[in-house]
Amino acid sequence: MQDSTYYAALDIGTSVVCALVGRLHHNGVLEVIGSGLAPSRGVQKGVIVHIAEAQAAVREALEEASRTAGVEVGWVTATVGGSHIEAFSRWGTVSSTHYALPITHETLERAVDAAYPRDLPPDRELLHLLPKGYSLDGLDGIRNPLGMHATRLGVEVVCITAAATPLRAVVQAVEHSRCRVRYLVAKGLASGEAALTRDEREVGVLLLDIGGGSTTLAHYRHGVLTHLAVLPVGGWHFTNDLAVAFNMPWDVAEDVKVRWGGVLPDGGGPETIEVAAFGGRGASRIERREVTRYLRERALEVLRLAYYTLRHSFGLPAMPPAGVVLSGGGASLGGLDALFRQGLDAPVRVASPRGVEGLPQGMQSPAYTAVVGALLWGTRQAISGRARGMQNGARGRPLPAVMQWLRARVRADRPGTPRAS
Ligand SMILES: Nc1ncnc2c1ncn2[C@@H]1O[C@H](COP(=O)(O)OP(=O)(O)O)[C@@H](O)[C@H]1O
Ligand SMILES: [Mg+2]
Repeated sequence: MQDSTYYAALDIGTSVVCALVGRLHHNGVLEVIGSGLAPSRGVQKGVIVHIAEAQAAVREALEEASRTAGVEVGWVTATVGGSHIEAFSRWGTVSSTHYALPITHETLERAVDAAYPRDLPPDRELLHLLPKGYSLDGLDGIRNPLGMHATRLGVEVVCITAAATPLRAVVQAVEHSRCRVRYLVAKGLASGEAALTRDEREVGVLLLDIGGGSTTLAHYRHGVLTHLAVLPVGGWHFTNDLAVAFNMPWDVAEDVKVRWGGVLPDGGGPETIEVAAFGGRGASRIERREVTRYLRERALEVLRLAYYTLRHSFGLPAMPPAGVVLSGGGASLGGLDALFRQGLDAPVRVASPRGVEGLPQGMQSPAYTAVVGALLWGTRQAISGRARGMQNGARGRPLPAVMQWLRARVRADRPGTPRAS
């Protein structure tokens, strides 16, 4: 069996650490053949805050995925989340003074290289450089310039950066399990891969991935990501509101939110909820209506921030035609889609992961869009890199320091059999 047909992904999430092993069939179907889940430890608001605890959780998830798949996991595509992730746009150009250049893959790469942000501070790393549109001799709106001729090719790219320390922590957490990171992918971007349909991405859609401590907003149009922003509000803030309002331990507040939480007044369920108080002072009862009120206020704040970002940071004049798709663990909050639908007067749906076969029933919920998306992302990167005869599709481009660091370790690695890449 060729090891190149196996791919693995890892999402070090706020609630759970999840690993998947997929097998790519000849007909292009990516089948999940193994999965591992471990309660997340050492992770807060989507960022590793205790490396030893996170390493143990990662090991548990990877070992289970490896065992259920029956293959050793040697390489993974890992997600990177948190509110330290930022995005901005840059232009790169390639020109010829004498004659019209035929636009080849190499010309495109040179243009993207020219957009590379070389002025990042040392504590930031570039995660992604994603072309979003081209211009030929000043003519904008070119979607695929390959094969055309021009004296000047321009490309607008979305640059996604992350703080170096949490990025390295992800790599360290993986390497502790004698596994290597092949690709790193921003969580919001990974979620987009598994949450959105091709049609939605084509006509225009806004993805709202509500994670532990942040919410990623990603706008897609004409099949590509055009804008991305990370808001520093996520599921953690919903829980914290309840903990503070009702003076209860954080874990109890989280449990109340997940079991009884919702944002609609008529969401059903009991009128009062019994909760454990601090310091073994017995139990107290809280009104579910009140819980709903706090969660609804926080949800409306997320909605307002998202709308403001869409209009003012992204500069979009209106809601995209396909509306909003909700993903991430926070999207499971009861009634969130209905509330957003009302507030935005646009289509809103909650995503469940798509694009793979054989995903266990328990993982068909919005919290798992990131890991499934990472599996899809890594598989696609590996295939396109291989098809064009280059590692990571990054020929000639200056590598971010963290990737150079990774690559140096990769070179030192010995090949094993059979390993999921
Ligand atoms: N059923 C649920 N209802 C409401 N919130 C939920 C539910 N399940 C998970 N969450 C919330 O989702 C958040 C974690 O989302 P997740 O996508 O796993 O995080 P991240 O991607 O940042 O690691 C947590 O704040 C958690 O409370
Ligand atoms: Mg998530």
